[in-house]
Amino acid sequence: MVEDSSFGATITGNLGTHFVGQRVIYYPSLTSTMEIAKREAQQGTAEGTVIIAGEQTAGKGRIKRTWLSPKGNLALSIILYPTVVQLPSFIMLASLAVVHSIERVTGLKSRVKWPNDVLINGKKVCGILIENSVRRNIVDYAIIGIGVNVNLKLSDFPEILPIATSLSHELGRDVSLLDITQQLLVEIERLYLALPTGESVYEEWRDSLITLGERVHVKSGNTVYEGIAESVARDGSLLLRGLDGSLTKVIAGDVTLRD
Ligand code: BTN
Repeated sequence: MVEDSSFGATITGNLGTHFVGQRVIYYPSLTSTMEIAKREAQQGTAEGTVIIAGEQTAGKGRIKRTWLSPKGNLALSIILYPTVVQLPSFIMLASLAVVHSIERVTGLKSRVKWPNDVLINGKKVCGILIENSVRRNIVDYAIIGIGVNVNLKLSDFPEILPIATSLSHELGRDVSLLDITQQLLVEIERLYLALPTGESVYEEWRDSLITLGERVHVKSGNTVYEGIAESVARDGSLLLRGLDGSLTKVIAGDVTLRD
């Protein structure tokens, strides 16, 4: 299927969600879905509004990196208005929604590299960026940005070949962007609605991490920690056992697995 200006309406069509994806704004090409999502959120757009792009020319990654986002890949941002208590669950919720959707649509198994990279056979297939605005303990908005390498032809991008994969590369055939997008929106809503009932995403997210028990380097700001990734706390932070036996709680960072 070729995505055109009606792609947004097609996504909403038979989605069956209560609010996530009930308003979809599709751009064939734009700088970053995060920029438009932020503008929409600041104007108080309906909860669950999705900004989706055919391609991004300035995709944003974590830690001020850029994110490669050519045609054939999935790039979307979802606007939500959670409570401050729910915010730490967002990295877990988003990565699990991706893992579930990939398996449901393609049968492929994926795992999570702390905090929320999704990997297949050790290579990155999805990146997640969460941006929010919180004032005096009140969340103005939270935006979940998700980029999935769906039909990315890796031979066109040799620079990422050693570290990245795509669903089409793993399967040897193209994957429906519509199916992946719809499944993802359904999963995000399901997991989000389950948060207030106390059903925690923490245990499943913890168990899906490839990081635990491994010797790792963690770059957090200008500091690099080294040690064994011992566990994760309920707030999503990583507990790192240093080589001197000390335990460090790392709230955000980038992990490199050591051999
Ligand atoms: C990372 O792994 O560094 C996070 C990558 C997040 C990419 C997605 S694609 C959709 C949304 N729009 C962006 O500009 N970034 C996120």
